[in-house]
Amino acid sequence: MIYPNATLGILGGGQLGRFFTITARMMGYQVMVLDPDPNSPAGLIADKHLKANYQDQTALAQLGQQCQAITTEFENIPTESLNVLAQNSVVRPSAKALAITQNRILEKNFIHQNKLATAPFCPINHFDEIDSACQQFVAPYILKRASLGYDGKGQYRVANAKDVKTAFIAMENKPCVLEQQVDLKQEVSVILARDFQGHTQTYPIAENQHINGILAISKVPANISPVQSQQLQQMAIDIANALDYCGIMAVEFFITKNNDLLVNEIAPRPHNSGHYTMDACISSQFEQQVRMLTDLPFGSVKLLSPIVMVNLLGDLWQPTPNWQVVLQQANAKLHLYGKQHARAGRKMGHFCILDDNLETATMTAQKILERLC
Ligand SMILES: Nc1ncnc2c1ncn2[C@@H]1O[C@H](COP(=O)(O)OP(=O)(O)O)[C@@H](O)[C@H]1O
Ligand SMILES: [Mg+2]
Repeated sequence: MIYPNATLGILGGGQLGRFFTITARMMGYQVMVLDPDPNSPAGLIADKHLKANYQDQTALAQLGQQCQAITTEFENIPTESLNVLAQNSVVRPSAKALAITQNRILEKNFIHQNKLATAPFCPINHFDEIDSACQQFVAPYILKRASLGYDGKGQYRVANAKDVKTAFIAMENKPCVLEQQVDLKQEVSVILARDFQGHTQTYPIAENQHINGILAISKVPANISPVQSQQLQQMAIDIANALDYCGIMAVEFFITKNNDLLVNEIAPRPHNSGHYTMDACISSQFEQQVRMLTDLPFGSVKLLSPIVMVNLLGDLWQPTPNWQVVLQQANAKLHLYGKQHARAGRKMGHFCILDDNLETATMTAQKILERLC
């Protein structure tokens, strides 16, 4: 076990890294953040912020020498950097897990190898593969870049092969997956923690609404049957076991109108739809991240109250939301990420409403959102 006062490292300094940093410091650890952005949300509050890129050998060496264990904030950290660090340090999750989850083609093939379903898809590596890909299933489609997409970026909704070609060129002829747009009944996510001995814990399932490909609202518990809930949690555990995963993981699922359970994507890290755990669970996803990194036993994932989480995007900054509206609501919790510049679609913060009745919580959240600006 790595005890408090030790230094923990994290590659990536966004809001997920910031919550990791806050939690680790609350538990008595010191935190070193590697992120090139001098104003990164986690860097601003870390004990030490290395302002260098993720391949900077000097910074990686410093991180390796000064940290007792190192984790990652997002999937797009170069795996080569993790391999370098892993030679002398505890690094969780592994480069192998990141390599699969940072590429949609590898990720979807991996899901199928493990006998789980996804939306029908076909990889497109070259322009001349587009026509045959489109013949494999019916429109409408979504064309997604294989790597570096997030929050709906790097994807286009397209209706036919001609549109696919235009979108493929717009995405610089980079490898993509063509996916069938499925009829969604619900979107849900399972947040899971797995330690180095293979013990897993799954949080209560969140039901998620996206607007323009970006998470807007999560409600917990999800409005699904106990059987579905059990199946989804088992699918997430199967994925984590197959990856021999060590860390926090989110699995995003589609529930179709036919009640098929499809894996959408795997995030090898804490997840936006798991932010509710900070306000409504005994141990948050970030506390579990600290615990798995330091070999402490996991805390309880028990849900203490139904809860709704609402993302606050930069669009609401005109120029600043009226915080009074959230702060005067006694059962609301406001979290802001310390970002200096608001941009449309940029995640600036979130708030949660806790209420014994999830419908009342949702209505309260909607009213607050409408009055914020
Ligand atoms: N095949 C699909 N059918 C229907 N909706 C989809 C499909 N793929 C993506 N979406 C919608 O777009 C959102 C973002 O897509 P996702 O693949 O999760 O990309 P990102 O990495 O940007 O989160 C999903 O949460 C869902 O709402
Ligand atoms: Mg997603």
